[in-house]
Amino acid sequence: MKKLLVLFALIALVLGSFTGCSSTPEETGPKTVKVGIAIYKFDDTFMTNYRTEMEAYLTGMNSDEVTYEVSITDGKNDQATQTEQIDNFIAQAYDVLIVNLVDLTAASTIIEKVKAADIPTVFINRQPSADDMKLWDKITYVGAKAEDSGTYQGEIAVDLWNAGGVDKNGDGVMQYVMLMGQEIHQDAALRTEYSIKKVEAEGIKVEKLFEERGNWDRVLGQEKTAAAIAQFGDKIEVVFGNNDDMALGAIEALKAAGMVVPVIGVDATAPALDAIAAGDLSGTVLNDSVGQAHTSVDKALALLAGETLEKEYWVPYVKVTPENYKDFQ
Ligand code: BGC
Ligand code: CA
Repeated sequence: MKKLLVLFALIALVLGSFTGCSSTPEETGPKTVKVGIAIYKFDDTFMTNYRTEMEAYLTGMNSDEVTYEVSITDGKNDQATQTEQIDNFIAQAYDVLIVNLVDLTAASTIIEKVKAADIPTVFINRQPSADDMKLWDKITYVGAKAEDSGTYQGEIAVDLWNAGGVDKNGDGVMQYVMLMGQEIHQDAALRTEYSIKKVEAEGIKVEKLFEERGNWDRVLGQEKTAAAIAQFGDKIEVVFGNNDDMALGAIEALKAAGMVVPVIGVDATAPALDAIAAGDLSGTVLNDSVGQAHTSVDKALALLAGETLEKEYWVPYVKVTPENYKDFQ
């Protein structure tokens, strides 16, 4: 009986090698790694650049050994929608997730879910609290230090002031308008704070004329600036936008009112660089979507490979002015 089994096994082996159904890696094909990416909403210029780059970077790494199957969801700025999308990734046994939360207060719920399913996760762009990040070791955060972007905006304003291009009414005070991003986002508060802090640190007095939320949105940025113009008109000496989309909206409103006022943004998106070229935008700060996309993907794959990571990784901001904008186009 035993001999007969050995014989069968041998025949199977020989047949196998003839018909080619043995299981060497070439013949079973590359292994598939399923990467789920949840974006807070698709209708956002910066996050669109970011997600496009993550996808390109991942699929660019496809090889004979591995195929990255990437699925990206649009949270539509609604946490309930995004949580459902993450539940779906978990139900479909995704290998690793990259999450741009809608609402930071949902971080602990999401972390508990991915932990229960043992799916390593990288948070991007919106930083969960330090306490939330302690909930599991297979999570990390990739972002950029918002304080620095604010400080660079302040430096741009100071340089314009020193060049004599800001103090229209000659009172020695910088009268400004601040367009803020969404309240839930750490970048909004920090850019608002650090831009003005830098101006004051250089000994320039400031007067806040108007400070409202444009929620990162170009149309809202235009509407809020139009409201500021209606209220303060020529008193406005500089406009700070927490991002480029709102700054570009501000430029539209100023043009419509026939006003020329320095406007400073953050992100260095393509339309913002064009606006610098056209002389409409005074400066911006590169929020490096390519660098952040690559770092997030690298960290996701490192977590998947079982590496122990830090709790946060930072990609530097770069100041962008009419002198150097071409380097970023
Ligand atoms: C960017 C904004 C973007 C926001 C999305 C910020 O870091 O500067 O342009 O709308 O992230 O969360
Ligand atoms: Ca003034």
